[in-house]
Amino acid sequence: MIPVNQPLLDGNEKRYLSECIDTGWVSSDGPFIKRFEDGFASVVHRKHAIAVANGSMALVAAVAALRLEAGAEVILPSFTIISCAAAIVRAGLVPVVVDADPATFNIDVSQIEAAISLRTRAIMVVHIYGLPCDMDPILDIARRYSLKVIEDAAEMHGQTYRGKPCGCFGDISIFSFYPNKHITTGEGGMIVTDSDVLAARSRDLRNLCFIPPRRFVHDELGHNMRMSNLQAALGVAQLERLPTFVARKRAMGSLYNELLKGMPDVELPLASTDYAESIYWVYGIVVNESIGFDADEAIRRLSAAGVGTRPFFWPMHEQPVLRRMGYFAQARCPVAERIARRGFYIPSGLALTEQQIREVAGIVREVIHK
Ligand SMILES: Cc1ncc(COP(=O)(O)O)c(C=O)c1O
Repeated sequence: MIPVNQPLLDGNEKRYLSECIDTGWVSSDGPFIKRFEDGFASVVHRKHAIAVANGSMALVAAVAALRLEAGAEVILPSFTIISCAAAIVRAGLVPVVVDADPATFNIDVSQIEAAISLRTRAIMVVHIYGLPCDMDPILDIARRYSLKVIEDAAEMHGQTYRGKPCGCFGDISIFSFYPNKHITTGEGGMIVTDSDVLAARSRDLRNLCFIPPRRFVHDELGHNMRMSNLQAALGVAQLERLPTFVARKRAMGSLYNELLKGMPDVELPLASTDYAESIYWVYGIVVNESIGFDADEAIRRLSAAGVGTRPFFWPMHEQPVLRRMGYFAQARCPVAERIARRGFYIPSGLALTEQQIREVAGIVREVIHK
């Protein structure tokens, strides 16, 4: 089986991990945490970086840090991971979905204003799969309506929007370091912001709100979402190679484009827009209606031929758990509904070899039109 993802851990990872073991620093108090946070903040041009346990918890803290009033509405794309809606709901806020742009799969900017109500307080933007959201018009809407921006850059390490790093656009922004990301810490996440207040609040939420003067007396409920020194050691080693990883992913994406181009009934990912070139976090493809079957069948065929895949995200407005809570009764997002049913991604991990890419592309061509 060619795995859908495998990370590359052949830089300084082992050396830095040994350092943790040799010095006994394994907890979140170890020195790699600060090194990773400082290094990451500098890469995304932010004043503060706060390392946490994973990207989902980074979203929980980022949304809670904003202290929006209970019942306030937050706009988000329907086509995203559940972590986004979960963070909004857990903060006592109301998620309001907007459909995806059919070309980039990101939030359809032209539909955002229609979703704004008197209770809207924030927009959560999520950069999906390879290309960032079109940030200029989104930031303009946020300014005009006095909305906070939460930027989910979980998949966008090393990507830029008009030359500026993704992760530098939100009032507060987040990343994930799950092993399928451009850099990984096994499990891990990062919150970044330029605001001293939001950074301090995120740090408190990360660590059980241990606010002075008396330790173990709490005024508020936080979480333990700390990252360990072991994870940060991996992160420092991975961060050293971010530009190499991004270049490698782009080369992999271009090779897939070349090998798969011209296939009837199959939509390949958009390579670039006027503001960014895809980093191919994952290489997603969509099978057209004309083909006579959906992504589930394509996934079955590829699996039988030894190719690992993952289906696309499932829209938030079609999530049973959120529907049961009473959200999205009227929501319709035809683009998200379509790509969820017709899209999947093929092996895209950094350890994939050129030979494997050629093999996967050959199998895709063969089994899709069997
Ligand atoms: C857009 C997006 N946001 C948030 C997350 C959650 O990150 P984690 O898996 O580290 O909890 C992911 C995970 O893949 C993601 O793709």
